[in-house]
Amino acid sequence: MFVVTGATGNVGGHVVRELADAGAEVVALTRDPGAARLPEGVRAARTDELPLAGATGLFLNPAVVWQLGADRLLARAKESGVRRIVLLSSSSVLDAGPDNPIGTRHLELERAIKGSGLEWTFVRPGAFAANALQWAAQIKAGDVVYGPYANAHTAPIHEADMGAVAARALLDDALAGQAPVLSGPESLTFSDQVRIIGEALGRPLRYEELPREVARERMLGGGHMTPDVADSLLTMFARYVGHPAEISPETERVTGRPGRTFARWARDHVAAFR
Ligand SMILES: NC(=O)c1ccc[n+]([C@@H]2O[C@H](COP(=O)([O-])OP(=O)(O)OC[C@H]3O[C@@H](n4cnc5c(N)ncnc54)[C@H](OP(=O)(O)O)[C@@H]3O)[C@@H](O)[C@H]2O)c1
Repeated sequence: MFVVTGATGNVGGHVVRELADAGAEVVALTRDPGAARLPEGVRAARTDELPLAGATGLFLNPAVVWQLGADRLLARAKESGVRRIVLLSSSSVLDAGPDNPIGTRHLELERAIKGSGLEWTFVRPGAFAANALQWAAQIKAGDVVYGPYANAHTAPIHEADMGAVAARALLDDALAGQAPVLSGPESLTFSDQVRIIGEALGRPLRYEELPREVARERMLGGGHMTPDVADSLLTMFARYVGHPAEISPETERVTGRPGRTFARWARDHVAAFR
């Protein structure tokens, strides 16, 4: 039996579906089991109850771990007989340091899991294609998306590909002790991504670059981002300007299929931008 945290989210939702399609027994954790829309046969349970008895594999979304406390969660996993943890980590661990709080937090979590003595796989994606959902309100309101660093490259990855890799890591032994870095199949600038969403919508969308300070104010304005995280993201984007992102072969190696393109992601989510 597998327990999936963050099971209603971008990646967790696909982990649940992949495991259920493989015929596995799955418990999906959510703060609101009554509202969760899950595949048939998947049981919903409350995240804070952590029902791990009988689970052999556990998928961890970092936001949930930070909320519950890593030590408490890992102790409970061990005493419940969980054998393997698959963590949704981040490629930012590769340059963790004082100026990179995102990478540092994920690295600390990886270290805590390694220290627990449980089997582990760390799935380390770069930028999510789903980050483009942050532009939905602007795209609904008009044809221009304002943001920082128009020519910063990333290789946005579809959440379905991350879910497929994470499910493989739970179902097979082949990825135990590995930390595959995942990317999408193509390097795209923020301008490219907005144009491609426009193509899915049949509208001529364009990205207009804001000065760093203005973009920073906007990032902080929502109240969801701390200044250190905003600064580290902006510094990372600045580094990516004019430098095509590296493409990882891992998705295809693990799943046997090429990663889904951003155009495919945009078609899959076109309703979110209408
Ligand atoms: N964005 C990127 O580019 C990027 C890159 C590399 C790594 N990552 C990692 O991926 C994570 C995001 O994954 P995702 O997009 O799949 O997650 P998500 O969709 O944002 O959230 C997953 C689910 O977790 C639950 N949740 C959210 N916050 C919670 C909290 N504080 N306490 C308890 N439950 C909470 C929610 O479910 P319920 O409401 O049903 O409880 C939510 O649907 C990031 O936090 C980061 O660690 C992101």
